[in-house]
Amino acid sequence: MEKPAPGNAPIHSLIQYRWSPRAFKPQSMSPEQVRTLLEAARWAASAFNEQPWCFLVARRDQPEAFAALLACLVPANQKWAQNAGLLILSFAHTTFTRNGKPNIHAFHDVGLAAGQLALQATALGLQAHMMAGIDREHIAATYTLPADHEAVAGIAVGVPDDPGSLEEPLAERERAPRERNALETFCFQDEFGKGLAF
Ligand SMILES: Cc1cc2nc3c(=O)[nH]c(=O)nc-3n(C[C@H](O)[C@H](O)[C@H](O)COP(=O)(O)O)c2cc1C
Repeated sequence: MEKPAPGNAPIHSLIQYRWSPRAFKPQSMSPEQVRTLLEAARWAASAFNEQPWCFLVARRDQPEAFAALLACLVPANQKWAQNAGLLILSFAHTTFTRNGKPNIHAFHDVGLAAGQLALQATALGLQAHMMAGIDREHIAATYTLPADHEAVAGIAVGVPDDPGSLEEPLAERERAPRERNALETFCFQDEFGKGLAF
């Protein structure tokens, strides 16, 4: 299934066609696909080129690793993400390597890298679905995290499937139109809150 953004301004088709499915065909990503996705994330911009991101990945054809990573998601996300071809946990290095001071841009930069990964997924005919619903305590118990590293999000990647493969109410949500706030509500000129005049 495709769910292109019904936008007003012309945007690149990769952005238009990226979306967050829950219905995935239960087929694994190949190692090459995974490396391409991570390479796209690698080339993200970051404050001071600090590159404060880490990704823990588990392909579907690595059943033990996949099950361990799946268990780090909240149950509501496990329900549909279990069919993904690849699961990822993203982490932020929250202090600067150069001086040990807090890097307040770390989460921003992890998100930017994840965004690039998601667009690369779309380019490969896949889709990536990000998840705030992760179990941080379980992650800390499962993996030994280095100091100053925090879990940010889960990402499920795969080949979208028919919404009918989901149980209700997920199937209905899958078919619902994608929505966004109007530009005028968050893009301002001259002063904060004053909508664009062009
Ligand atoms: C940081 C982040 C966290 C999210 N957490 C979840 C989640 O835990 N579970 C879920 O089903 N979707 C989650 N989503 C997906 C959003 O609901 C989705 O991106 C949003 O509804 C817009 O839909 P679209 O990506 O198809 O345009 C998350 C997305 C982002 C970027």
